[in-house]
Amino acid sequence: SLPAKVKIVDVGPRDGLQNEPAPVPAEIKIGLVQRLQDAGLKNIEVTSYVSPQWVPQMADNHQVMAGIARQQGVVYSVLTPNLKGFAAALPDRPDEIVVFGSASEAFSQKNINCSIAQSIERFAPVVQAARAAGIAVRGAMSCAVGCPYEGDVAPERVAYLAGLMKQIGVQHVGVADTIGVGTPRKVRRAVQAALQHYGIDAVSCHFHDTYGQALANTLATLEMGLWQYDSAVAGLGGCPYARGATGNVATEDMVYMLHGMDIETGIDLDKLVDAGAYISRFLGRKPHSRAASALLAR
Ligand code: HMG
Ligand code: MG
Repeated sequence: SLPAKVKIVDVGPRDGLQNEPAPVPAEIKIGLVQRLQDAGLKNIEVTSYVSPQWVPQMADNHQVMAGIARQQGVVYSVLTPNLKGFAAALPDRPDEIVVFGSASEAFSQKNINCSIAQSIERFAPVVQAARAAGIAVRGAMSCAVGCPYEGDVAPERVAYLAGLMKQIGVQHVGVADTIGVGTPRKVRRAVQAALQHYGIDAVSCHFHDTYGQALANTLATLEMGLWQYDSAVAGLGGCPYARGATGNVATEDMVYMLHGMDIETGIDLDKLVDAGAYISRFLGRKPHSRAASALLAR
C-alpha cells in the first residue's frame, strides 16, 4: 500500500547547481534556499565541502551556510567526502551530513578519487565524528543502477556497498540512479539490495530523469513502501563526473504526482513553482519540469 506522506529532500542548491559552468553567486543560492523553505520544504541539501578544484561551484559553502535564514524544523544537509570536508562543515552547523559512495568502482575513482574500499575507510571517521556531534548521517550510493563508465550495475554491488555503509554506522542510505538509466524493475532490484541491510524507513531514492523514467521509478518504489525521495526544484542538476546525465527529477513533478495521488508532502506547489522560476530566471532558461511549465503557462 502507498504511504500517506512522503518526505522530499530538495537537492537543488547542491546537486542542482554543482555542475553549472558559470558561477552562481552565494546570494542567489541563499535566495533559492529561502524560497524552498517558504514553499514548505523541510529538507534541503544546501552545499558540499569538496575540493574547490574539483567542484568550483560549491567553493562558497561557508558563505551560503552563513547566509541562510534557518527555519525551525528544517533539516539542512551538506556533503562531506572526508574528514577535511567534515571539519570545514562542522562550524557551519549542518543538521545532517552526507557521505557519498558509489556502487561502481570506476565512478568512485572518477568522482572521489579512490576505490570503494578506500572511500569507506575515509567515511568511517567522518561518520564517527558526526554521530559524536549529534549530526545525522546519510549515505548516498551513486550509480546504483548504471554507471557512465561500467554500464549496468548489478544489485549485488548495491548490497555490498549498503553493507559497508551499515558497518561504519551510516544511518540511512540513498539509492541513487546517478545517470537516470533505471527503469522500474531495475530500481526495485537496487532498492531490494539496500533493504538487505537497512529498514524501509532508512532507505530513500534519488532519481535523475535522463530517460524520462524518474516518476515511473518513484511510483514503483512507493509501491514497495519507500517514502523518502531526493529531487531538485526546476529539474536542476547533473553530476560533473557523470557525462550525459541530465537533471534530477523535478520537485514540481514529484509534488504534482504525489498530491494527485492524495499523498501529503507539506509542500505548496505554487510557491515551489515560484522557487523554480526564480533560479531558472537567473540561469537564463526555463524550468526543466513539465508540471512547472504547465503551471507557469496558466
Ligand atoms: P583528492 O585529490 O583525492 O584528495 O580528492 P586529497 O586528500 O589527496 O587532497 C588533495 C587536495 O584537495 C589537498 O589540497 C586537500 O587539502 C584538498 P592541496 O594540499 O593540494 O592544496 N581537499 C579538500 N579541499 C576541500 N574540501 C575537501 C577536501 N579534501 C581534500 N573536502 C576529494 C578527494 C573527494 C576531495 C575530491 O575528489 C573531490 O572533491 N571530489 C568532488 C566530488 C563531488 O563533489 N562530486 C559531486 C557530488 S556526488 C554526486 O553528485 C552524486 C550524488 O548526487 C548522487 C547521484 O546524483 O546519484 C550524491
Ligand atoms: Mg544527483
